[in-house]
Amino acid sequence: MKAKLTLDKYAPISKVDPRVYGSFIEHLGRAVYDGLYNPEAKTADKDGFNQEVIDLVKKLNVPIIRYPGGNFVSGFNWEDSVGPKEDRPRRLDLAWRSIETNQFGLHEFEKWAKKVNSSTMMAVNMGTRGIDAARHLVEYCNFPKGTAYSDWRRKNGAEEPFNIKTWCVGNEMDGPWQIGHKTATEYGRAVNETSKAMKLVDDSIETIACGSSALDMPTFGSWESTVLDESYDNIDYLSLHRYYGNQENDTPNYLAKGLDLDEFISGVVAICDSIKARKHSKKSINLSLDEWNVWYHSNEQDANNKPWQVAPHLLEDIYNFEDALLVGSLLITILKHADRVKIACLAQLVNVIAPIMTDEKGHAWAQSIFYPFMQVSNYGRGTVLTPIQSSTTYSSKDFENVPYLDSIAVVDDSESAITVFALNRSLDEGMDLHLNAGDYEFAGLKEATQFAGYDMKQTNEDGAMKIVANDNVSVTSSGADVKLAPASWNMIRIN
Ligand code: AHR
Repeated sequence: MKAKLTLDKYAPISKVDPRVYGSFIEHLGRAVYDGLYNPEAKTADKDGFNQEVIDLVKKLNVPIIRYPGGNFVSGFNWEDSVGPKEDRPRRLDLAWRSIETNQFGLHEFEKWAKKVNSSTMMAVNMGTRGIDAARHLVEYCNFPKGTAYSDWRRKNGAEEPFNIKTWCVGNEMDGPWQIGHKTATEYGRAVNETSKAMKLVDDSIETIACGSSALDMPTFGSWESTVLDESYDNIDYLSLHRYYGNQENDTPNYLAKGLDLDEFISGVVAICDSIKARKHSKKSINLSLDEWNVWYHSNEQDANNKPWQVAPHLLEDIYNFEDALLVGSLLITILKHADRVKIACLAQLVNVIAPIMTDEKGHAWAQSIFYPFMQVSNYGRGTVLTPIQSSTTYSSKDFENVPYLDSIAVVDDSESAITVFALNRSLDEGMDLHLNAGDYEFAGLKEATQFAGYDMKQTNEDGAMKIVANDNVSVTSSGADVKLAPASWNMIRIN
């Protein structure tokens, strides 16, 4: 099968905001306790943080991490998680019906985030709380000194403010499962007033209003319109969340699910812009895809979870090869919308629907999905070019005209390298991909790799999965020819 991608120097989509390679840590299952923090484990550093986890997270090069939830945040009292550990209360976490010990809290997370070279994207509780708790938290984190909350932070060991710039005002407030779930009008008013007060404390912050928890929410569309109507001038981003699964064991359909994400993003952009037009506003609302991933493998197991445990095994999806292919495609989809998607968080990071897992001895290991994420996060930085591609297509249960080739090119800031990410969706046919240099002049090949040849259901618990070199590449000044294996994830870097 033949396919072509033409690089058009004069058709950039946008510069990539590095925050699209964000991730997410929630107080849920073994993400924090056992995952990030396990003072008993041999792998713990002097702060009780798992050093092997830190090393793997650094490889993913994640610039921002959403914290502390998720559904958890809608019942969270942030004040419980600061101050001397022995005074911190044990609480019922109603979202996950677990026990929260609060032995890891705001200060610990800030310290940990620094160790992995990342920054915090803080979520505030709009379920059981609202304006007051949110404005106090901004003051605690960002105000220098001389007020009750800023001095409390200093007393708790952080002389300098945390300076957290990106704030989620609530989580999935459209979802009936959310503690304190609201109608769009109720939430729209609340997010407007809360964001306004938070920005009065620190006008350098940016805020994210909750959009829809999924494209198939019954309120999708009207939720966005109403929330934006109420809050347009006081918020900066609108969120969207999306998870995928292959419950039907239909791989061609599963690998096409990037098209669903594409439709979701385009729909939310259209709604944001329609409100902009209606309000005659000069300001555009951009998108924060602050939860996305594959999530379905653990559903059955989680249905039998015993409540009120500390750090139970929850949402521990073990990912396989086809999941990694889809994650690659979802990353390409995010890049295709780099002009409007400015933040995206792979949900989540450790032990809970995560690229990184820890075993009972505290050893950390990388799941299949770790590899495409690592490549795109490290090399997908710079300017994204509009993908002008030609490819034969197929139809699947939910999608028509699915191109076998899914691809994108990113030019780095110094224009010294062009990186192409490409998925061959065909399960049985290889692909001869021609990269047309357009007005670029290729000097030579920097690197070509492939993730290929595995059974769709193969997982990486034994650490056997590897990205390997692709030697089937030839480069001239005007183009390159690359052979893509059937069902493969590929990266081609050209000088
Ligand atoms: O990431 C797991 C959960 O998925 C989050 O807590 C929630 O926001 C979403 O429904």
